[in-house]
Amino acid sequence: ADTLGAAAAEKGRYFGAAVAANRLGEAQYVATLNTEFTSVTPENEMKWDALEPSRGSFSFGSADRIVNHAQSRGMDVRGHTLVWHSQLPGWVSGLGASDLRSAMNHHITQVMTHYKGKIHSWDVVNEAFQDGGSGARRSSPFQDKLGNGFIEEAFRTARAADPNAKLCYNDYNTDGVNAKSNAVYAMVRDFKSRGVPIDCVGFQSHFNPNSPVPSDYQANLQRFADLGVDVQITELDIEGSGTAQATDYGNVVRACLAVTRCTGITVWGIPDKYSWRASGTPLLFDDNYNKKPAYHAVLSALGGS
Ligand code: G3I
Repeated sequence: ADTLGAAAAEKGRYFGAAVAANRLGEAQYVATLNTEFTSVTPENEMKWDALEPSRGSFSFGSADRIVNHAQSRGMDVRGHTLVWHSQLPGWVSGLGASDLRSAMNHHITQVMTHYKGKIHSWDVVNEAFQDGGSGARRSSPFQDKLGNGFIEEAFRTARAADPNAKLCYNDYNTDGVNAKSNAVYAMVRDFKSRGVPIDCVGFQSHFNPNSPVPSDYQANLQRFADLGVDVQITELDIEGSGTAQATDYGNVVRACLAVTRCTGITVWGIPDKYSWRASGTPLLFDDNYNKKPAYHAVLSALGGS
């Protein structure tokens, strides 16, 4: 196979990219997307502020453009994300507990119903744990007003809304074995033991020199898989360039392929110039859509050429 998507498919995996709706008019962007990728994640268009900017009034237009594009090309869609402390409209933060609970469940139900049958996996809850050594939950309107149970409630509501979508918990700095990933691990183990619906864990995998690819990355993916969930690499980017970056990308792909339940990889953008890391070059294509050494390392690790 000579594309990322085709090579990954031969290994039984998808290979995806985060996509911005306002780039879908750019010919080179779309050509690269359509040629190389078999899955998309809307980079911002399915976040709460985009979909429900004021209470009860939904605006699906930009997200629909991405979903329609994906469907017309036979690509999967990862839904990102239903419950997150960031990109949350102001009206949500102002609610009292019982109103907030209804608003959360209503948001999940309305959004998942709108996209029912069209989303492969949903990031139901994103980034609910703190960084650092405490393993504690992150402060957010949901955590602060609803308590620890908000995550479980969100997953139960999500299962009811679209029983065929895979329901994921997604986070960053959980890529290796550390206090934060231990806390997520304990939550997933608890959910599985009590029958709380969860199907997958997303490992964002935003790497840079201060936060390199961990040496126990594969072992960490494997321990989650051993709990009985799929694992996905959901927002991969690696700051750097040249051979060093290529080697890191290859190592990430090999780690996923070594874990049977690692079902796919998504990179967080297509050309470097559209990365959220404004000054960086963390992606697989340069600003002119040339394939970087990192691209060739990924293709080769997937068994393509
Ligand atoms: O849409 C507005 C536009 O109207 C306004 O004029 C402009 C001015 O700043 O801002 C635009 O919104 C920006 C939005 O991206 C869309 O481009 C926000 O400022 C900007 O903060 C936002 O950044 C996104 C970031 O999440 C916000 O948290 C990045 O594009 C997106 O890549 C990034 O993605 C996150 C994942 O969702 C979760 N994991 C971490 C990852 C990287 O931070």
